[in-house]
Amino acid sequence: MSSSALERPLTVVLLGGGTVGSSVARLLLGNARDIEERVGAPVHLQSVAVRDVDRARPGVPAELLTADAASAAASGADIVVELIGGIEPARTLILSAMAAGSSVVTANKALLAADGATLYEAAARYGVDLYFEAAVAGAIPLLRPLRESLAGDKVTAVLGIVNGTTNYILTRMDEEGADYAQVLADAQALGYAEADPTADVEGFDAAAKAAILAELAFHTRVTLDDVHCEGISHVTADDIRAAQQMGFVIKLLAVAERNDRGVIVRVHPAMLPRDHPLASVRGAFNAVFVEAESAGEVMFYGRGAGGDPTASAVLGDLVTAARNRVSGGRGPGESTYSNLPVLPVGDAITRYYVNLAVADKPGVLASIATAFSDNDVSIQVVRQDGHGDEASLVVRTHLATDADLQRTVQQLKELDTVRQVLGVMRVEGEAGE
Ligand code: NAP
Ligand code: HSE
Repeated sequence: MSSSALERPLTVVLLGGGTVGSSVARLLLGNARDIEERVGAPVHLQSVAVRDVDRARPGVPAELLTADAASAAASGADIVVELIGGIEPARTLILSAMAAGSSVVTANKALLAADGATLYEAAARYGVDLYFEAAVAGAIPLLRPLRESLAGDKVTAVLGIVNGTTNYILTRMDEEGADYAQVLADAQALGYAEADPTADVEGFDAAAKAAILAELAFHTRVTLDDVHCEGISHVTADDIRAAQQMGFVIKLLAVAERNDRGVIVRVHPAMLPRDHPLASVRGAFNAVFVEAESAGEVMFYGRGAGGDPTASAVLGDLVTAARNRVSGGRGPGESTYSNLPVLPVGDAITRYYVNLAVADKPGVLASIATAFSDNDVSIQVVRQDGHGDEASLVVRTHLATDADLQRTVQQLKELDTVRQVLGVMRVEGEAGE
């Protein structure tokens, strides 16, 4: 084998110089000698496209900044790194970069989950690489293990915490009783949140990541529209207290499961036992369990958001794409051959916590128990708190389908004895029926 097919320096263009882009630029320039050794050729940062070229970005030389993202993308650089985010202009810029022969590295989960197929098709058409390790779980090496290390196994489930902002918020609400709005502002200041933090708190960011994970894990096409998505904006201090009283903690979970009929992908807040490994994942950290037939359970843990941690994953991809240029090889393309149906969330099977404000009088418990049994939902534990007008019943169920539980809740809402359904949440991570 020849030592190197390429004798010239490799060129890199950055599209975006915000939280992640400016970290990538700084680290690429600061670690240039090591990166050159690892790639086998010098890697030269050509330009950084931003909106506002007059804003100083520490560690990023002002002469590299350009407001002309379209020309930078289409310049024919060896590698174009897209760190603008969102659908447009990111998609158009990536496609024009590929058409000009550039390999692309991106952290853009929103675009990959909405229209990854178009990017994969263009990468194949133009014979270039598409890498996106930073799109899911920040610094954690997770997509490459799914795409490569577990490529010979059959993955059956992926379960994890994949949004740093919401995990940071829920951790501080749990540990300090902190106020939601203040903690969200702190997460934004720390660079964890998306440009529009609604994507974080309403679960869309985690849903995009869940779609990407499910597609890679199960070799089948999954897009954002296939993911059932609930965020944390309706999680109350009462829910957090109720979870604490029962020995649980609330986390925003992403779950992708494969059964013999298809796949189910969902993102929602859930209660976890405090001794569950995911319960101890605090702050902006992420953790993901992958279950595979032969490997068993594999867990990934690390920083899920923030400029430098995310830049680490981007630079890993950049080095890989650069090595491919040097050797003349290419990374893996899209793998969706399984073509599995995406099943509705109603088919998902979990346990539930239901908190009801009830009339404190004879017969209440019987009417509530009937609503559960009418819909095939078996009760595991019932606890009454308070009495008189303050009475509430907390019910925890055995395993049930989501559809049966939703019907139960509807029936409970129609009972005279139920004054209000105060909270309904899935419970994950308990053993048994
Ligand atoms: P950001 O701080 O908002 O940075 C976006 C950058 O894009 C800014 O430099 C902005 O320019 C530039 N930009 C926006 N529109 C542009 C346009 N039309 N033309 C040229 N430049 C444009 O976002 P970020 O947090 O770095 O995130 C970037 C990507 O990484 C997103 O896809 C995000 O989902 C992903 N990601 C972020 C994190 C994280 O922790 N932040 C983690 C993993 C993945 P100005 O600076 O001039 O406004
Ligand atoms: N806003 C995202 C998060 C960034 O909080 O996890 C990392 O993808």
